[in-house]
Amino acid sequence: MGLSNDNVNELIPRTEAIKHIIHRGSKDPNKIIYDYYVSHGDTQKAQRFLQYREVWESIRKGEKSLDFPPHVAFALSDACNLHCAHCYRVFNKDRTLKRRMEFDEIFKLIDECKEIGVHSINLGTESEMFLYDSILEVMAHIGSKRFEDFWVCTNGTLLNDEKINVILNSGVTRLSVSIDAVSNETYNKVRGKHFYKLMSNIFNFLDRREKRGTALPVLRVTMIKSNLTINECDDFIRFWSKIADEVDIQPLIDIKNIDLLKYDYIQDPYCNYPWTMIYINWNGDYKPCCSEFCKHLTIGNIKDMSIKDAWNSPYMIDLRRQFVEKKVNKYCTNCLRSLNSGESYSALSTG
Ligand SMILES: C[S@@+](CC[C@H](N)C(=O)[O-])C[C@H]1O[C@@H](n2cnc3c(N)ncnc32)[C@H](O)[C@@H]1O
Ligand code: SF4
Ligand code: SF4
Repeated sequence: MGLSNDNVNELIPRTEAIKHIIHRGSKDPNKIIYDYYVSHGDTQKAQRFLQYREVWESIRKGEKSLDFPPHVAFALSDACNLHCAHCYRVFNKDRTLKRRMEFDEIFKLIDECKEIGVHSINLGTESEMFLYDSILEVMAHIGSKRFEDFWVCTNGTLLNDEKINVILNSGVTRLSVSIDAVSNETYNKVRGKHFYKLMSNIFNFLDRREKRGTALPVLRVTMIKSNLTINECDDFIRFWSKIADEVDIQPLIDIKNIDLLKYDYIQDPYCNYPWTMIYINWNGDYKPCCSEFCKHLTIGNIKDMSIKDAWNSPYMIDLRRQFVEKKVNKYCTNCLRSLNSGESYSALSTG
């Protein structure tokens, strides 16, 4: 007998997982966002944000699940201007075709997110979101819907004045910039030749944020710990801890394994994505997460089902059951085993 959403509620594994090493500034970014709403007299939004964070923590602890996804991530296109050493697109040439989701489709999906109670939107998985031609209108539309959380994840190289202003005007709560280096030399090896431009863009953002007298969006900077970056991790933490609101050192995922799928067993698998998010790809496919391994995991397509239908689909119920019973499909097995985090085979969304 399949599990319904109700009894899955009681069965979510109560495992805490370690994946990312996070260093925070003097204040927790969640507190910064909450305080911002309070100080702007937006008590209703502050309250909703608090409830959402409490629910998020309950989901992570395995105490609760929702009948709609708390977080929805979008890959608006598959275009990118970089060729990072660690990125799957380096192996998968098919990923550079600049295919995109239609503008009106995105608007409809954003509207549905608001209607069903989604708390958090993420733009910028799989590609470089600022290459999407109508990105500023999309961001403004999301801003008008007043989600409690709004993530923008970018490589930062295209952050000019106009884009920074839209970020500051659209209710973006978190700006996540992937840097992966403290030196031009390492950046060159990992991400390419725009290190100084990137640094100048980030400091321009910080300057403009300060001039506005606003704490939002909080700045999160990320580095993937790999053989290319290992010697700079400590300096990265030291440097950015004083400047950014959050410094996230992430495990490298072995991208070769996305196609090879070399593992067939995993002990004690844990992942909280099936309870925390839906990812919508540029072609309208619903996925249970934004791991590259989810290319093998398709719930359905926006042409055939709503976001809520995808979330409550037999596919998702079965995926959650797999984690509850600790017997997961080979794609999740390989995803978890490909995280070179050392001791733990766990994927954990860190929002
Ligand atoms: C795919 S990118 C999309 C957003 C944007 N293009 C960027 O680079 O930030 C999202 C995040 O995934 C990370 N990522 C890409 N390939 C990875 C891998 N093999 N292992 C771990 N993280 C990876 C990137 O460094 C980035 O922080
Ligand atoms: S910028 Fe992001 S999407 Fe583009 S190649 Fe690098 S990691 Fe991949
Ligand atoms: S284990 Fe990996 S592929 Fe499976 S749902 Fe979690 S993040 Fe996605």
